[in-house]
Amino acid sequence: MKTPCLVVGTSLKLIREVLLALKAEGRSNNHVIGGPDTAELRRTRLCRTCTVINIDRPDLPNDDQHFVQLVQQFAERLPGLVLIAADVEGAKLVDRMRPALAVPIAPVAPAAVLAVLDDKWRFHQLCETHRLRVPKTVRITDKATVRFDELAAAVGLPMVVKPANCAGSAGVLIVGSEQEFDRRVRNDDGYAFDRLLAQQYIAGADFCFNLLAVDGQVQAQSLQRRDGHIVSFLSLPVLEDMGRRLARYTRYSGPMCIDARLEAGTGRVWLIECNPRFWASLNASTWCGLNFVSLAASLASGGTAAPSRLSQGRFNERHPLLRPTAWLRALAASGTQARLLRASIADLPMLARVLRHQAGRLLPKRVRRAAGGLRSSGANSRGLHASRNTAHELQRPASPAARHPGQSSRPHRH
Ligand SMILES: Nc1ncnc2c1ncn2[C@@H]1O[C@H](COP(=O)(O)OP(=O)(O)OP(=O)(O)O)[C@@H](O)[C@H]1O
Ligand SMILES: [Mg+2]
Repeated sequence: MKTPCLVVGTSLKLIREVLLALKAEGRSNNHVIGGPDTAELRRTRLCRTCTVINIDRPDLPNDDQHFVQLVQQFAERLPGLVLIAADVEGAKLVDRMRPALAVPIAPVAPAAVLAVLDDKWRFHQLCETHRLRVPKTVRITDKATVRFDELAAAVGLPMVVKPANCAGSAGVLIVGSEQEFDRRVRNDDGYAFDRLLAQQYIAGADFCFNLLAVDGQVQAQSLQRRDGHIVSFLSLPVLEDMGRRLARYTRYSGPMCIDARLEAGTGRVWLIECNPRFWASLNASTWCGLNFVSLAASLASGGTAAPSRLSQGRFNERHPLLRPTAWLRALAASGTQARLLRASIADLPMLARVLRHQAGRLLPKRVRRAAGGLRSSGANSRGLHASRNTAHELQRPASPAARHPGQSSRPHRH
C-alpha cells in the first residue's frame, strides 16, 4: 500500500496541484496542514483532512509548535507518513521546525537558500556571481525621484519594470519611454510595490525548467513551454545545464521551477527568475510521465531512482469537463492519466469555478462588464480574494495597470 502524505503550505493552487499528483499516483490517504486560503480543500476529495493554522503571518499568534504537535499526531495514526512542502511558506516552516519533526520529509532547502532564490534581486546577484546569464538589472530605490535617463542607460529600452518579490506577473511592465514610465510607474499611486527593479528587456520566448534536487544533485527534470492552454515538453540543453549548475551552486534540495527567455535572433538563454517550490503547471509533467511529487515522497522514505528527464509530450491544461475527448478516458481507463482526470473532475469547488467561468463567458459582454463592476468590491471572478501575500499566491495582478501591454489580466501559470 502507498504511504500516506501530509502536505503543508499556504497556496491553495499549489497544494491542489500536489494533491492531484498524489492522486494520480494512486495515493489516496493524503492530508493537509495549510494557511487560511486552503480551507476549501475540506470540500474536496483530494485530501481526507485539511487543518488550518497560521504558517507565515507574524501579526497573528505563532502556530509553529502546534504544527509540530499536529505532525506528531498524524504520524502516530498513519505509519510511514511523509511530509511534503508545497510552497515556499510550507518549506520555510518545515525547515525551521525540522529538528522537532520525527517523520520522513520530502527534500526541502534551508530557509536561507529559499530566501535568496525567491527574491528576484538576490537571485540576480547569485547568478552574476556564478556567471549564469541574466538580463542587466538595477534597483529602483525610490520611484518618485529616480532618474529615468540613468535607468535607461543602465538597462536599455524598452525596459522591464517589476517588483523584486511578487509572482503571477503582478507589477510586471514593459516600459518604452520616460513618458510611459511617469504615467504607469512614477505617477500611478496604484503601482505601489516596495522593492522595484528595472531590467533589460529580452525579446524572445518563455521557457520553464523544472527540477527536483537533493543536495545539489538533480534527480528529475523537465523543460516546458506554453502555447495557450497547451504545455509541451522539449529539450534545451543550455537551459538544462544552467538549471543544474544553479542547483549545484546552492546545494539545493527540493522542487524548483526556473523561468527563462530564449532570445530571438541570437538563441541565447537568459534566466529571468526562480521559484523554489512546486509550480502551477506541475501536473503537465505528471500527465506526460514524470511525477515530481511521487518522486519527492519516495526520496523522503529512503527510496532511490535513476535521474529522470522529461523532454517530450504535451498536456492540455483546460479542465477535463471542457474536453469531451477526456470524458470516456476518465470513466473507462486506468493508469496515471485517468486517475488525474478523475481527481480533477471530482474536485467540486474547482468544478464549480470552471462552470461559473464558462457561464460568465456565455453572457453578453455588456452584462459581464456590469457584473465585473459589481464584483470589484468583493471577491474576483474566480472566487479568489485578493491576498495580503501577493508573493506566492499566483493570483491576478494587484493592479489593473500592472500588466504587460496588450496582455490579458490572466496570470502566467507555471
Ligand atoms: N527581462 C525580461 N525580458 C522579457 N520579458 C520578461 C522579462 N522579465 C519578465 N518578463 C516576462 O514577464 C513574465 C513574468 O515575469 P517574472 O517571471 O519575472 O514575474 P512573476 O511575477 O514571477 O510572474 P510569473 O509568476 O508569471 O512567472 C516572464 O515570464 C516573461 O514573460
Ligand atoms: Mg516568473
